[in-house]
Amino acid sequence: MSHELRTPLTTMKSYLEALQDGAVDDKRLATKFLDVTQNETERMIRLVNDLLQLSKLDAKDYTINPQRTDYVDFCNRIIDRFEMTKKQNIRFVRELPKRSFYVDIDRDKLTQVIDNIISNAMKYSPEGGTITFKVIKRGLDVKTKISDQGVGIPKENLTKVFNRASIASIGLDQEDWAEPGSVWLLLRK
Ligand SMILES: Nc1ncnc2c1ncn2[C@@H]1O[C@H](COP(=O)(O)OP(=O)(O)OP(=O)(O)O)[C@@H](O)[C@H]1O
Ligand SMILES: [Mg+2]
Repeated sequence: MSHELRTPLTTMKSYLEALQDGAVDDKRLATKFLDVTQNETERMIRLVNDLLQLSKLDAKDYTINPQRTDYVDFCNRIIDRFEMTKKQNIRFVRELPKRSFYVDIDRDKLTQVIDNIISNAMKYSPEGGTITFKVIKRGLDVKTKISDQGVGIPKENLTKVFNRASIASIGLDQEDWAEPGSVWLLLRK
């Protein structure tokens, strides 16, 4: 759980530093950065509330709160955060649909899952590596693929990542797991 809390804090720190380094003088940028820090603050408050709640409840009682969401915009914002906070020499490649579309997702939970997958990808990326974030919409299925150029996830750890992901009520398309260094998330409407 520790990195679920660390990620929003790291994000806020980077955006605040950028503001201090001059972004504050650019009205449009400043508004955008303050927006992100506010969203991350609120997300962290919800996260802490969830944690306090979870310590009292059985994990089975974990509730999912789906909200209609522009998925391309949702993904772009997540990648923006990582681009802003990254310390390593890593490049993000976005392969996202041109047209926006809507999905019903629990934004906080899916954000946690994707944050973890991207953090993992960064951790295992070689110097100068590329992380590719790809979204494919086909019929009722929305596939999100996050791949890195590292060694790939060892088989024995798949269930660990899988179990975490299933908390967010998303299916993982296990047939595609064969490809090293990539994780597919499958959202089914
Ligand atoms: N992209 C990846 N490349 C190589 N190994 C990976 C990758 N993603 C996950 N793993 C392996 O799977 C394990 C489980 O990942 P998981 O995100 O559940 O935990 P963690 O990253 O070790 O800890 P935390 O997420 O709490 O910081 C990792 O420790 C690592 O061994
Ligand atoms: Mg991790």
